[in-house]
Amino acid sequence: MTLAADDPLGRTPDFYSYPSRPIDTAAIEEGFVVIRWADGAELRAYALWLWENRMADQGIDERTREGKLDPAGLPDAAVLRGARISSGHLVVEWHEASSSEFDSGWLRHVADGHESARSAIPPSEHWTAADLSELPTRPGPPVLDGDEAAVAEWLRLLCRFGVARLEGLPVDESVVGEIGRRIGALRDTNFGVTWPVSVDLAPTSTANTSLPLAPHSDLPTRETPPGHQLLHCLINTCQGGLSTLADGYAVADHFREHEPEHYDALATLRWTFFNRSPDHDHRWSGPIIDEGAPGSPLTLRAFHPVRGFPDMAATDVPRAYAALRRFSAVAGSTEFELRSAFRPGDLVAFDNRRILHGRTAIDMMGGTRVLHGAYIDHDEIHSRLRVLTRRTASAPMSTPQ
Ligand SMILES: [Fe+2]
Repeated sequence: MTLAADDPLGRTPDFYSYPSRPIDTAAIEEGFVVIRWADGAELRAYALWLWENRMADQGIDERTREGKLDPAGLPDAAVLRGARISSGHLVVEWHEASSSEFDSGWLRHVADGHESARSAIPPSEHWTAADLSELPTRPGPPVLDGDEAAVAEWLRLLCRFGVARLEGLPVDESVVGEIGRRIGALRDTNFGVTWPVSVDLAPTSTANTSLPLAPHSDLPTRETPPGHQLLHCLINTCQGGLSTLADGYAVADHFREHEPEHYDALATLRWTFFNRSPDHDHRWSGPIIDEGAPGSPLTLRAFHPVRGFPDMAATDVPRAYAALRRFSAVAGSTEFELRSAFRPGDLVAFDNRRILHGRTAIDMMGGTRVLHGAYIDHDEIHSRLRVLTRRTASAPMSTPQ
């Protein structure tokens, strides 16, 4: 698959050229064109979906390769009159004596599921401390230098495990932003585009104290909390302050399978979260374990320093607290929690909505600990990974395992 942005007469409703995949048969069945390939692959393409995807500046705008039809103006599905094959491509005949050609390679990529939202994104692998004895780690300098294969390999690890570390990076506070921009746009918040995590005499967040941090996810005060977090270690000469990480999928699995009453409370009862900065008042209400709609990523809301009044019936509050206590105990147990020391030059990326992170108390006597962080959403990680997968794939895009 190659980019075909300069092709003025595109054959496909996007900017990619697909290897030809000659179609074997095409037949009309109840408003669908059923397209089959010799290897057994099949695509049932509805008449109006094909109508919307007509090239030659009909359904698809040639300049943007985006659809330009208002659904209110769609014809009846009976517009479909015939289907045949020409040079391996699909030709559809319409009732008004016009016809449209559809690229066989593009149709095959749809048949293979590569137009789905999960295309090229490795499936999540749920892990406990026994499964992942140490953080998945790759060398940092190739990623900082923009080596596309190295960036793609690191992002695949991040999607699989929800956490992936880079090591050996320069110790400079600009690095976290540079690494983030190898992926895409950073997410700005009231903490800034990038932000320090160090012990602060006038802290605006518990993160900037020497207190221990229980297993948590950042910014549950937002409708959609940041998708990922990048934390780069600049200095660490402290005792304590070990970084803790636990897989929220595995923790949710545990409750669903072994403590279903607590799971129900965690997944359905809502809490209000609000930040308490003098100049900001972000608030959101949601459950601790938010599975979202089918196919959505997991969202954990678990930053207890900003948890407010229970947003639930008073009769539910006792079981909500009982479940919350178990949730934090399980997430912080040796069965689920990995502990590691930040080394200067390490950058740990993790899924902020999936991975519960925290730290042990920092002993400031005789040492300093300075991290620099940034947020970047799932959209940016997934987009970059799809683009890199397309660029480096010699065959049609597949989902790397
Ligand atoms: Fe945090």
